[in-house]
Amino acid sequence: MKYIISGTNRPGSRTLVLSRYVQKLYKEAGEDVGLIDLSEVGLELLGAATEYGDKVPPVMQGWIDKINAADGLIVVCPEYNGSMPGALKYFIDHWKYPDSYEYRPIALIGLGGRFGALRPVEHLQGVFGYRNAFIYPERVFITDVFRVLDADGNLTDARLATLLRSQTVGFQAFTRALAGAGIDANSRLKKAQIK
Ligand SMILES: Cc1cc2nc3c(=O)[nH]c(=O)nc-3n(C[C@H](O)[C@H](O)[C@H](O)COP(=O)(O)O)c2cc1C
Repeated sequence: MKYIISGTNRPGSRTLVLSRYVQKLYKEAGEDVGLIDLSEVGLELLGAATEYGDKVPPVMQGWIDKINAADGLIVVCPEYNGSMPGALKYFIDHWKYPDSYEYRPIALIGLGGRFGALRPVEHLQGVFGYRNAFIYPERVFITDVFRVLDADGNLTDARLATLLRSQTVGFQAFTRALAGAGIDANSRLKKAQIK
């Protein structure tokens, strides 16, 4: 199953509204996709002295198991002070290398003010590129999110709706192609277990 990661734990987050919108697009395209809402992940329960990827606290393990079995991740990331929210990076830093990242297909959507989260999305490309994930090239940037997305999840910009739909079907084809060739993260993890 694919998972959408809603990239902040802020109450009343627009990122969560957009993540649900994207989840519906996948449903319309014939695929049930899970949603990981960072406000439910329990980051606040981890305590100050976590050992990150080496020894994951039990409260985090179930979420990381989902990441490690995902046939694709769609990260929806808001811009906070010119980068990704600390909560998202803190979550990512608890994942396991190489299992969580390597050859795992990733799609990226940014939302923000004037620059549509270009910076955090490029920071995420740096993180996932460094960790050898397969990044889907068609990214989507939602500029002026305050104007184009309301609290009920209505996207008033038809061009953005088209871009999100195009990313959805394109990412589906991308993950199918990688899995078909046996080179996505899950195929590689399965082969490693068989050896
Ligand atoms: C702490 C904080 C910092 C922010 N910094 C920026 C920023 O640097 N650039 C920008 O365009 N928008 C910035 N925003 C606006 C968010 O990108 C915008 O609110 C967007 O809706 C997504 O965030 P949300 O899921 O918290 O609603 C910031 C918002 C917060 C809460």
